Amino acid sequence: MIRPELAQSFAQLEAHRADMYDYTIAELFKRNPHRFSQYHITLDDLLFDFSKHRITDQTLSYLTRLAQNACIESRRNALFAGEKINKTEHRPALHMALRQMSDEPLYVDGANIISLIRAERARVDTFAHLIRTHEIRGATGKPLTHIINIGIGGSDLGPAMAARALSPFVKEGIKLHFVSNVDGADLADTLKNIDLSTVLFIVSSKTFTTQETMANAHAARSLIVKSLGEEAVGHHFCAVSTKLDLVAQFGISPERTFGFWDWVGGRYSLWSAISLALTIGIGSENMRQFLMGGHDVDEHFITAPLNKNIPVVMGLLGIWYRNIWGYNAHAVIPYDQRLARFPAYLQQLDMESNGKSVTNEGKPTLYATAPLVWGEPGTNGQHAFFQMLHQGTDIIPIDFIVAAQSTDADSRQHELLFANCLAQSEALMMGRSSDETEKIMRHSSHTDKDIDLLVPHKTFAGNRPSSTLLYSALTPRNLGRLVALYEHKVFVQSVIWDINPFDQWGVELGKEMCGKLVPFVEHHDRDTSDLNQSTAGLINHRRIFTRR
Ligand code: F6P
Repeated sequence: MIRPELAQSFAQLEAHRADMYDYTIAELFKRNPHRFSQYHITLDDLLFDFSKHRITDQTLSYLTRLAQNACIESRRNALFAGEKINKTEHRPALHMALRQMSDEPLYVDGANIISLIRAERARVDTFAHLIRTHEIRGATGKPLTHIINIGIGGSDLGPAMAARALSPFVKEGIKLHFVSNVDGADLADTLKNIDLSTVLFIVSSKTFTTQETMANAHAARSLIVKSLGEEAVGHHFCAVSTKLDLVAQFGISPERTFGFWDWVGGRYSLWSAISLALTIGIGSENMRQFLMGGHDVDEHFITAPLNKNIPVVMGLLGIWYRNIWGYNAHAVIPYDQRLARFPAYLQQLDMESNGKSVTNEGKPTLYATAPLVWGEPGTNGQHAFFQMLHQGTDIIPIDFIVAAQSTDADSRQHELLFANCLAQSEALMMGRSSDETEKIMRHSSHTDKDIDLLVPHKTFAGNRPSSTLLYSALTPRNLGRLVALYEHKVFVQSVIWDINPFDQWGVELGKEMCGKLVPFVEHHDRDTSDLNQSTAGLINHRRIFTRR
């Protein structure tokens, strides 16, 4: 149910949607020569263009009122003040503290977490430095040049995404790898052609109980023992976790264990020691730049007026399309090959945070929440799924993400990339009418028969909305900004939807069931007759197939 204080705003927006049928985005541009200058926001060398949307000033004012009525500012203040807003886990959500630049104290349960953060960051930086300079080496004396992070979800996606994004900043000679899947193929393929005596495994797990991570960690441990001996384990493993006791039980020493805290949600943990592999790769100064980028956005989120606030506007546009227009997907298309893992990272951030159907009070929401978030880099996507974005029956709002310049030398290729990005957002918005299509075909001497056949297929309805995020280059600081923008966007939407974005109970049931099913999969003589028919049938057929 829509909260009573928001009902009027939603009703206004519903009625306003009907008015918007009178205009296409292209017409809105024609009517307002200042549309771009009015509908973009800059944050240093990052620009958010939201002019290609089905919105007017009236839309923005209704959406801003919705945000005000949802008490977005006081909820934001509560978040930053460290109130225990993650009520189902009795915790604050303070990942922003990890990128706070000042020493201003911030207390959680009586402890100044800023000094705890500084101390842990210093340990991470020192360790990373010693690995980078080869002052710490493997059991046989070889430098540790292959850094393999073992983790999953938030203990993988963020650092893996950032390592790919910032690959030009990774020190020559260091290779970062990420193993996440419980499928042994992941570890096996990663280790193929790698000399184990040059590997540092980082076991990254907030809880240090996650099945996939522990299975991979134990498999990796066995490989080290087999090839280098038991005493080599201490040289080739380190860990990042909030559960220091469990790390110790695994056999990793406290000097090689880096901590963080339960007020850092898994999918927000790339700002913490969970990015140890990344820090080893890019060095502590670049890591600091990344943190500064996140901090820039925190400052902007706190200080910018709602209608000039990038994460607020991003969040409100999402609400407009999800709840008022009923669009159920949101695509993120980076025209930046190094952001290839960004959509996957955002899937966890957005869908694990807001993919919920009960409110903070535990009541059914009765309105749509997180959309399906997906994407792939452009231009590759153009040759795969863009057909559907241009002419499919569903309208999917898109975020295009593109750098002004490449971090590499070939500026000609970057110009092509950039032009492609602009061409797609413009084509989606402008479309091409049947009259225009016919005119073009006549001009190029097509026959009447061909024209009759092809015009419907070559016509584009257009009016398909998108935002563009443009940044100077994919530097650590700009990456930090991008990530934090989406974090706060997700928070803004959670406030409007009145849901807790910081828990993830929805992933538990499958984990429990897996625990119950493992014995049936392991032991072929276990009677499956009490299991669900389909589950039992599949297990029984696996037994047959594995005997063949
Ligand atoms: O599967 C859900 C989840 O709990 C995520 O929220 C988390 O990022 C991931 O598992 C990994 O958890 P951990 O860091 O405790 O291994």
